[in-house]
Amino acid sequence: MSPPLLHPGAPGSPDPIRVPWSGRGTRYTEDEIAAVVEAMRSADPQTQGRYQTEFERRFAAACDSPHAFAVSSCTAALELAALLCRLGPGDEVILPAHTFAASAISFARTGATLVWADIDPDTRVVTAETLARCLSPRSKVIVVVHLYGLVCDMDPILALARRRGLLVVEDVAQAAGARYKGRPAGSLGDFGCYSFHTHKNMTTLGEGGMLTVASAGLAGLVPGLRHNGLRGFPGERPDYWLPAMSNVDFDIDGLWPYNFCLGEVQCALGIRMLERLDAMNAARAARAERIRAALADYPELVFQTTPEGCGHAWHLLAARYDGQPYGRTRDDLIRMLSFEQGVRTVVQYCPLYRYPMFRKAGFGEADCPETDRFFDNMISLPFQHWMPEETFDLMIALVREALDRLRRPSPVSANTSVP
Ligand SMILES: Cc1ncc(COP(=O)(O)O)c(C=O)c1O
Repeated sequence: MSPPLLHPGAPGSPDPIRVPWSGRGTRYTEDEIAAVVEAMRSADPQTQGRYQTEFERRFAAACDSPHAFAVSSCTAALELAALLCRLGPGDEVILPAHTFAASAISFARTGATLVWADIDPDTRVVTAETLARCLSPRSKVIVVVHLYGLVCDMDPILALARRRGLLVVEDVAQAAGARYKGRPAGSLGDFGCYSFHTHKNMTTLGEGGMLTVASAGLAGLVPGLRHNGLRGFPGERPDYWLPAMSNVDFDIDGLWPYNFCLGEVQCALGIRMLERLDAMNAARAARAERIRAALADYPELVFQTTPEGCGHAWHLLAARYDGQPYGRTRDDLIRMLSFEQGVRTVVQYCPLYRYPMFRKAGFGEADCPETDRFFDNMISLPFQHWMPEETFDLMIALVREALDRLRRPSPVSANTSVP
């Protein structure tokens, strides 16, 4: 009988985790903690107040967008963007399947049909060419996802959208602060949807997001859709309390609003984190450069290419493992790293058409060979800019050692056959 599988770090495990997978994209500075405490003391009201106004103002300026709205998550931003695209049954939305489920769910909820676009094998994001293959007379919206932090090659995508009269939604959840030919990601299409979730390059206490909107007309609809249709009563009110404190109405007839607000304490932190975003992204980029250089003599580990002009926020460090010349698979590499070297790696972004949710909804079909090939061979390494220097160096050494061992023809170790 095979011995029970002991995960590194589990009591009794012979292989403690030496490089953990962390759920934190950032660590807070004392200044950021002080800003949170100050907002806890002083914010009045504690939602939709001066911190929100200031966070939105600064975010819009940093992202070169005319209108920015703080929301409770990127999912909320995507939900509002999908609503404002005015989609319905019969419409088609073209989007990658190699992404987090939230990129698709809001668009599926409208009743529109999801059409999966393949990724480019080198950049692992969609291109104008892969999107164009999915066009039909019913196409209405393109959703691009700047996955892992790499901004898609947007000029050809925007030209395609313009030619076909399509709206473009940018899912910038993983790419806040990245630029495309000098322009900030999220400012290029009609909508930019950002995430400040715990994993992201900047966070607002674990949850949060921002929606940027290019059109002034559509932007005017967001405050009501974001907060229960709340607004003032029209006209002068000599008795300010009459008929009531606030009015509610539809911004788009028949479309019920939400409460997607981000609290004041989170906005206060967002203001501070935004000041540090470029520096944190630069530290990530420097690390990405270092590890890729240190692993350059292992061509079986193929990192994302970054085409000229396409910036990268290096949210994650994902690679494809081409171990066939050595008779090895991606799973051999993960087993080796996890159970023998103590480096906890993961596999991310299962093609959405493989998930029960999308299959049950009728979106289980796709012609995306590169999406399948990448996902079936991908590995994501722990990658935080705050990871201690010695841990980062250790990870590089351990990955090199694992790749060396997998190059050897002899059986690697009894542990690697653990299912
Ligand atoms: C690509 C992508 N889109 C959307 C989301 C949803 O973000 P949030 O968790 O802020 O709703 C995520 C996040 O986790 C993501 O990675």
